[in-house]
Amino acid sequence: MRMVDLIEKKRDGKALTKKEIRYIIEGYTAGEIPDYQMSAFAMAVFFRGMTEEEMAELTMAMVDSGEKIDLSEIKGIKVDKHSTGGVGDKTTLVLAPLVASAGVPVAKMSGRGLGHTGGTIDKLESIPGFHVEIDNRQFVHLVNQNKIAVVGQTGNLTPADKKLYALRDVTATVNSIPLIASSIMSKKIAAGADAIVLDVKTGSGAFMKNIEESKKLAKAMVKIGENVGKKTIAVISDMSQPLGFAIGNALEVQEAIDTLKGEGPEDLTELCLTLGSYMVYMAEKADSLEKARKLLEQSIASGKALETFKTFVSAQGGDASIVDDPSKLPHSSYTFELKAKEEGYVNEIAADAVGTAAMWLGAGRATKDAAIDLAVGLILHKKIGDYVKKGETFVTIYSNQQDIEKVKQTLYYSIKISKNKTKKPVLIYETIT
Ligand code: URA
Repeated sequence: MRMVDLIEKKRDGKALTKKEIRYIIEGYTAGEIPDYQMSAFAMAVFFRGMTEEEMAELTMAMVDSGEKIDLSEIKGIKVDKHSTGGVGDKTTLVLAPLVASAGVPVAKMSGRGLGHTGGTIDKLESIPGFHVEIDNRQFVHLVNQNKIAVVGQTGNLTPADKKLYALRDVTATVNSIPLIASSIMSKKIAAGADAIVLDVKTGSGAFMKNIEESKKLAKAMVKIGENVGKKTIAVISDMSQPLGFAIGNALEVQEAIDTLKGEGPEDLTELCLTLGSYMVYMAEKADSLEKARKLLEQSIASGKALETFKTFVSAQGGDASIVDDPSKLPHSSYTFELKAKEEGYVNEIAADAVGTAAMWLGAGRATKDAAIDLAVGLILHKKIGDYVKKGETFVTIYSNQQDIEKVKQTLYYSIKISKNKTKKPVLIYETIT
């Protein structure tokens, strides 16, 4: 087999066989296929796409390129959740203890983040003492004991994806649905999931900016799941504005705690109940989605979800008293109030620009090794469709720098207030099963 022939075959729009896909992924991982040929191949896929069978094989070839996490010692059906990412997305912080409190084993491998704020692990590390450096034996033990544990990314999972993703990043081939779908699914499968719930975001703060593209990506991932024997569903949810009110690591932990107490923002609560219901149902802890949702609502109302969060935090070295005393979370030195220059309705909150403003404050990383400031960020007081009076504070800025003119200007520019009434955006567009 020669790589040049396979590039040509894909360039001409033909489907590759399983053997050919394995040859490409194994050869590339081993360093036998050079970057220039893999770049040409990725571009051919970008223009020609892939069949469902090709996507499934590409996914499994990437899974088989490295280590796989063995969760077989954990009792029950392990349902993992993945979000394609967005601004203010602290869903995992709520969802993991919430579904664990309903008996679903949550063995979560999470990452740090590049971008607007840190990833789940950065956010959790704003809790004093919390750590994710636990070995595999302890990880399994904690999940069996408490139904929940979160570890940092360990081992050599999906090295083919790592190498290919870095190449796509510099060859304008990231935005290809077969390549994104196989990349995401390979990581979830290698991390040991029995079933997968996907939160595919759509809108200005998301990877996929419009509903049609988001739907295509969701469908591609659900099909991959079906073809490789991992039950997968995808919820398409709104990211035309940030999720919840808080953007910034410790601020998001506080908002997640409020949500577990039943006092969180409406959109975050609803999204967690929707995703959580699928997780509970797929883990066979309820025999219908309605019963699953009831279980979760009861767990919040009774305080069980919050108790599970406290147990989880303590088990990983964290100070669970932050739940009752938020002053123990990191705090910024300065706060600034952004006041409305005119009265009117919030028409637009450009999620990506608001996220960038949070990153400038230090809430996120611009490069892989950059430091992150866990205390800083933004609290929105208004969302799209809300009315604002002239002079009313619509954003509070938490900062450790005094000069934040650029942040203020960006927020004024990206949050549009006008006399025209605007409808609140739809939160959940569709579920693909
Ligand atoms: N996220 C991933 O993990 N992979 C992609 O290809 C794109 C986004």
